Amino acid sequence: MGDIERFIKERRSIRQWKKQEVPDELLKKAVELATWAPNGGNYQGWRFIIVKNKEVIEKVANTVQSVSDKIASWPEAVSWQEEVKRYQKNASFFRNAPACIGVFTGDYQSPMDRVLVARESFDPEAKEILGFRRSAPTAIQSAAAAVTTMLLVFHGMGLGAVWLVSPIQAKKEIEAILKVPSNMNLICLVAVGYPDERPQRDRKPVDQVLEFVY
Ligand SMILES: Cc1cc2nc3c(=O)[nH]c(=O)nc-3n(C[C@H](O)[C@H](O)[C@H](O)COP(=O)(O)O)c2cc1C
Repeated sequence: MGDIERFIKERRSIRQWKKQEVPDELLKKAVELATWAPNGGNYQGWRFIIVKNKEVIEKVANTVQSVSDKIASWPEAVSWQEEVKRYQKNASFFRNAPACIGVFTGDYQSPMDRVLVARESFDPEAKEILGFRRSAPTAIQSAAAAVTTMLLVFHGMGLGAVWLVSPIQAKKEIEAILKVPSNMNLICLVAVGYPDERPQRDRKPVDQVLEFVY
């Protein structure tokens, strides 16, 4: 356990990178290993787009920044001004990443989903159960497992990456820039490069978040 524990605890989200390029083979290997993550029904409905083109990364970052600026400018933002400002300031730092990976997924329907969808219009119980399933979508959980695996692989390669969900605010624009097929949905971006920082971060003691049922 010692090595695994150290490895897991050493990984950090990295937001500053050296200019050094990341070889395609490393990026491809990380995506390949990510696809070995557990996933619903082994359906593997995920897709990955690796962007190394500086101008494309810049374009994606600009669109994310402009949506964040818009949200921050709305009058409702005043109630959470400081936090909103912080999010706005950090919205597009990934423009400096040597590579960005778009993670996408299609809709996954298990056989149970199909039964529930067929009944939801006339059976309130089926509708409620479908609601439970939709509150924790299998496709998104599967993509999250892949991203977690990818981040650990990058860490093992001496690379530093960060999982970015805030770009989802510019989902429509990013999918257009990357020419993503309409049946695929952006889940997140992963920005990656050789780390140029060594951030420290803690976790809550496990007893605060864990309970056993005997
Ligand atoms: C679902 C998810 C969404 C995240 N979105 C962002 C984001 O939009 N921007 C960002 O800078 N970091 C993002 N992160 C990274 C978290 O801020 C980071 O994992 C957390 O602060 C713990 O730090 P660590 O990864 O270094 O342990 C995200 C992480 C996860 C798992």
